[in-house]
Amino acid sequence: MKLSRLFTFGVATLATAVALGTAAGAAPARAAHFQPPPDSLRALAAPIGLRIGTAVTPFDLVTADYQKIVSDQFSVVTPENEMKWQVVEPTQGTYDWSDADRLVAFAQQHGQLVRGHTLLWHNQLPDWLTTGVANGTIDNAELRDLLHKHVTDEVTHFKGKIWQWDVANEFFTDSNPSGINPNDFWISHLGTGIIADAFRWAHAADPHALLFYNDYNIGGEDGSNAKADAVYGWVQQMRGQGVPINGVGDQGHLDTQFGFPTQLTADLQRYADLGLKVAITEADVRTFVNNATDQVPTDHLATFAQPYEFSKMLQACLAVRACISFTVWGFGDGESWIPGFFTGEGYATLYDVNLAPKPAYVDFQEDLKVAAHGAQQRPRT
Ligand code: XIL
Repeated sequence: MKLSRLFTFGVATLATAVALGTAAGAAPARAAHFQPPPDSLRALAAPIGLRIGTAVTPFDLVTADYQKIVSDQFSVVTPENEMKWQVVEPTQGTYDWSDADRLVAFAQQHGQLVRGHTLLWHNQLPDWLTTGVANGTIDNAELRDLLHKHVTDEVTHFKGKIWQWDVANEFFTDSNPSGINPNDFWISHLGTGIIADAFRWAHAADPHALLFYNDYNIGGEDGSNAKADAVYGWVQQMRGQGVPINGVGDQGHLDTQFGFPTQLTADLQRYADLGLKVAITEADVRTFVNNATDQVPTDHLATFAQPYEFSKMLQACLAVRACISFTVWGFGDGESWIPGFFTGEGYATLYDVNLAPKPAYVDFQEDLKVAAHGAQQRPRT
């Protein structure tokens, strides 16, 4: 579902530009005064300096209801796909920043920060790159140069506009013990040192952006905590070597069938104790549903487990002072990536398929109200 949307970007651009153009016309005056509703997630989280975020597909911003929720509820946005290499450089040497630029402009008009996602990942690479590597026309030396240019050009293009960059994404294996995956596209061609190089290149291009390592199951979601242990050891080593890494992002893709990862708070705190910021970067809590259209949980208990796990995940972030943002990977079940990627699952977000708030949303409001009186003020960034 989402995948097909990826290929409609070109067509969507004009409509998106027209619709957002209207909003943008009135924006400068409104922007300075943009006031989110007092009971919105972003307003409730503001007293402790926590940012509540969502992934956004700029194409969806043409829908008024969707746009209103993005601006009212969230104080940081992540482009769901529009800063990935496949999208920004579909043809070698020809950049297309249009959709990402549009989201950045929208964020600026609504007093939001931006998480850049993601510079170095094995997925959603341009065909010209993977084909060139596969047929030998791009050798390893050139691949390294191309990556250096990609990181430098992208970070430079958005310089000063990105709060946190997910520099490197999903490099660790899911096995026990875990480690950097030797079969990863980048590692197999360029060796493990390429991750540190990407951080150095990103830092050189925008010294003020916070640079994150981002991955899933690095908050004990694997049960054994093996992946968290491996990532912890690696970031500790990187910090020791002076690599400019500022934070660790736990994606936070949970599934009710596995229960809540009870290690999460301790794992986040352990990264924080290294002097790092932490963030939940792609939160959702999926469960089995009747169908992808209605997304009614098949197990009645899941209607309780879903908001419970979501709330516990937010509470873990609230409990760790260095946790500076909590981002959901889309806020509506109808737009979520889950039904397209996890067969039979859905109901993973804060709003239902009609964009009505679900129990998880109400629990978030309650958690944030309590936190405003108890949780520690987040560090200034
Ligand atoms: C997903 C998007 O949500 C989909 O629209 C796209 O087709 C594939 O990628 N981890 C990540 C995200 O870091 O970039 C992924 O986003 C979800 C898993």
